[in-house]
Amino acid sequence: MRRKHGSVLAFLCLGAAFAFACYTTWTSRSGGNGLDSYQTQFLELHQRLLYAEKVNKKRSHELSSVLNEIKRAVGEKTNSTANDTVSLVMGIPTVKREKQSYLMGTLNSLFFDMSAEQRNDCVVVIFVAEVNAEYVNSIAESVRVRFPNEVLSGILEVISPSAFYYPEFSNLKETFGDSKERVRWRAKQNLDYSFLMLYAQSKGTFYLQLEDDIIVKPQYFQTIKNFAVQQTSDEWMILEFSQLGFIGKLFRSQDLPLIVDFFLMFYKDKPIDWLLDHLLWVKACNPERNAKHCERQKAYLRIGYKPSLFQHVGVHSSLTGKIQTLKDKDFGKNILHKAHANPSAKVTTTLKEYQHYTLEKAYKGTECFWAFAPLAGDYILFSFLKPLRIEGFLFRSGNVEHPGDKLFNTTVEVLPSDETVLNFSTGNGSKLNYQITKDGYIKIGAFKNGVVEEVIDPSIGKIQAIRLSIHSPSPVWVLLSEIFIKAH
Ligand SMILES: *[C@@H]1O[C@H](CO)[C@@H](O)[C@H](O)[C@H]1NC(C)=O
Ligand SMILES: *[C@@H]1O[C@H](CO)[C@@H](O)[C@H](O)[C@H]1NC(C)=O
Ligand SMILES: *[C@@H]1O[C@H](CO)[C@@H](O)[C@H](O)[C@H]1NC(C)=O
Ligand SMILES: *[C@@H]1O[C@H](CO)[C@@H](O)[C@H](O)[C@H]1NC(C)=O
Ligand SMILES: *[C@@H]1O[C@H](CO)[C@@H](O)[C@H](O)[C@H]1NC(C)=O
Repeated sequence: MRRKHGSVLAFLCLGAAFAFACYTTWTSRSGGNGLDSYQTQFLELHQRLLYAEKVNKKRSHELSSVLNEIKRAVGEKTNSTANDTVSLVMGIPTVKREKQSYLMGTLNSLFFDMSAEQRNDCVVVIFVAEVNAEYVNSIAESVRVRFPNEVLSGILEVISPSAFYYPEFSNLKETFGDSKERVRWRAKQNLDYSFLMLYAQSKGTFYLQLEDDIIVKPQYFQTIKNFAVQQTSDEWMILEFSQLGFIGKLFRSQDLPLIVDFFLMFYKDKPIDWLLDHLLWVKACNPERNAKHCERQKAYLRIGYKPSLFQHVGVHSSLTGKIQTLKDKDFGKNILHKAHANPSAKVTTTLKEYQHYTLEKAYKGTECFWAFAPLAGDYILFSFLKPLRIEGFLFRSGNVEHPGDKLFNTTVEVLPSDETVLNFSTGNGSKLNYQITKDGYIKIGAFKNGVVEEVIDPSIGKIQAIRLSIHSPSPVWVLLSEIFIKAH
């Protein structure tokens, strides 16, 4: 209470002194009748200060509850994890999207080619920026199921804020041509990143900001570590490993409190990448020099690495309806799919295709097939226009950029043109020993480690269709990078 009084008092004094200064200069210029004007001006200023005080109090109240919440979350977590720190802490904020998220694919990509030593030297923190407990738990559960070892060993953590974290977003000012929804989104994003940064701060030497819909270049971990250690000057604040928004930005953990203070101070006012740029401006630029000088100074604080190590996968941003078409041009190209001359067929699937990555294109070899995560009972079907003799087949799921997007618990079945082969293709004493499905398909093979390649016994005869049947749900998306049906 006393302190609050004090600050009001200080404001008023300052106000009076300022008003007085105005008054004196005004009188010296025009002379006479100064007192009325002094009164009006003083009152006006007084009103203004009261208003500013009110706004400030509200804001500082919000901020202090925000900080308390972060402290509480950090405190709760600290005794559950190891106390030794790592080199690299990676922060991934994620929010609920209308379409499926690519979080599991992102994690796969991050852990894919890491050595045991590198795994021991990093922590990945997923920040589920939602307060719906059911949703948060479902994410935590799929992460636990998909990455049990990483979760157990403490290199993968899932956190989320309590409902009290977020202040009222209803009365935000619409600025910079952004709609109300967009202003709310960017204000929340500022708070989300701030939370994550403060949480991650004590866990390692460097903090890398990521997003939940990205893919990484092979050996990204070592590249980042080397680049950070090789910096000859200590001046840098940000090392940039991607040109996109807020992906692939590396900070020194010790700088994070300052950066977060800055974000929190202006979280309602601007998007986070602008705030970061302003912070650099404040630190590096001399307002009496020109923009070119400023850019040069900022370049000491923000150092870019080329080529980019991170790329967006999603065209769907987490802001509902916003299309995220940004692609990092420096990311480069890999061989992502392999074409084969497949026999004419009608292709169908129960899987939900992602964008233009259709099954048809994959069958022709012009693109990968890519689809949202499957459920048990989903299938991919290749029906030949007329029955064919098939020598064998090869199906490969996943590729370099999406190594984890494989088919699991999936069998390959063929539909014989002559159903009588079913009578002798199974059971005791039969020539062949295959399982038959209820709907008359013969099981020929199953995906192992994302790939299946088999020859088909010629005694099965002509084949009408080949089917990939998925027997259990999977949390990851499905990508087919190679389809090869070897017809005679
Ligand atoms: C953390 O440690 C405190 C005391 O050291 C204990 O009371 C608390 O239950 C612990 N929390 C967890 C989540 O283990
Ligand atoms: C972890 O904490 C324990 C006890 O607090 C201490 O003995 C140990 O040295 C710490 N380990 C590291 C790597 O800091
Ligand atoms: C195959 O079995 C079905 C019934 O299971 C029978 O109707 C059919 O005649 C059999 N065909 C041959 C060639 O044995
Ligand atoms: C399978 O056939 C063998 C002989 O060919 C016979 O001894 C055996 O009992 C049969 N098994 C079944 C389950 O019919
Ligand atoms: C494959 O799916 C079946 C049917 O849902 C299930 O019983 C089986 O345990 C699954 N196998 C694996 C390896 O997940």
